Amino acid sequence: MELKEEFPLTKNLVYFNTAVMGCLPASTIKAIEEYAVGLAAFLRGDTGWDGTLGGLEDRKPGSKKVFAEVIGASEEEVACVPNCTTGMNTIVNMLPVNRGDNVVTTDLAFPMGAVVVDSQRRRGAETRFIKGRKGIVETADFEKAVDDNTAIVYVDHAGWFNGLLFDLKAISEIAHDHDAFLVVDATQSFGALDWDIDRSGVDAAAASTYKWLMGGIWSISTGFMYINKELIDKYPPAYFSGSTMEKKQISDSPQGYTQYEFRPRTGIRRFEIFRGPDISYATVENSMKMLLKMGLGNVEKSIKRLDTLLVDGLLESGFELQTPVEEDRRIFVNVKHENSGDVVKELSKDGIIVSSRIGGVRISPHYYNKEEEVETFLERFREVAK
Ligand SMILES: Cc1ncc(COP(=O)(O)O)c(C=O)c1O
Repeated sequence: MELKEEFPLTKNLVYFNTAVMGCLPASTIKAIEEYAVGLAAFLRGDTGWDGTLGGLEDRKPGSKKVFAEVIGASEEEVACVPNCTTGMNTIVNMLPVNRGDNVVTTDLAFPMGAVVVDSQRRRGAETRFIKGRKGIVETADFEKAVDDNTAIVYVDHAGWFNGLLFDLKAISEIAHDHDAFLVVDATQSFGALDWDIDRSGVDAAAASTYKWLMGGIWSISTGFMYINKELIDKYPPAYFSGSTMEKKQISDSPQGYTQYEFRPRTGIRRFEIFRGPDISYATVENSMKMLLKMGLGNVEKSIKRLDTLLVDGLLESGFELQTPVEEDRRIFVNVKHENSGDVVKELSKDGIIVSSRIGGVRISPHYYNKEEEVETFLERFREVAK
């Protein structure tokens, strides 16, 4: 099947907006339809009641298994969380942070991530925001900011507004040399890059599913969280719910209510505070299978090839980038423009979909895009942005 047919949204649009929301493969759209039809039948009572949800429930284990394969982790290290931000809260508030410690991040962090970091001041920690220069923070900047009082180093693997890729291995070495943890927001990189998280030095990470993992628009999307196996049972979880606890019956009360002793489960489920929408996990599971079919190495290569064509074309036409030029340091592109909002609006009239972010136009093709679309984009961008 032609890629255009596999991704219906790209048929009539030059859709370079995956950093907002990924397009869905036709088979995933079908999976959503089938789930919705099955759910409606169940709720009408058409399928009867046998104590299960007619095959609609528990799509999470299968989805976790596929996700683990996408990121190079083992299933036991993957938890379902509502979204990236909840995952990051869960990780950061589980790790030990004490008065006098510091937490290091950058001023390029996604705003909600910055809020999670900043909240550590409540635990008495100092928060350090390394300043980016023209959208770039170098590994050497972490060497200066991290010290023996650093508890956590927090980075977005790919920067949200310009696609800057951090060198996680090098940063993890800096963090670990000071006994600090490396915590990563991978919303803009899971599904776009071929990397093995278990070998990357990352201690924990989380992502929402609606971008490169092609998990649907945010209202039906969900999240995954990774915690390295060494850490899963090391510290008590910060949050609790029925599904994170093991219960042991200890007596029957005089009123007839059974009394239980609750304690956090061992294993990754001790962090799964919500039951989660199975439709969202069924959706992203199907899309991730498409990524695996393509091969994450091929996905990454296709994206980077398109980005490089964009970078070359934009530089040749005299535009200034807010993204590194080198291919291994970016996964999407931001081109500076003082009226980026107007440019984005004008391009959308021709069915070219990009976003305006921090004084520039953010262009984020996925593997479903084509070189001809880069040509179409560049031609129109030169006219609109001149
Ligand atoms: C780096 C990054 N993290 C997280 C998010 C979204 O997080 P959430 O779905 O938890 O709101 C985004 C969305 O743009 C993002 O770019």
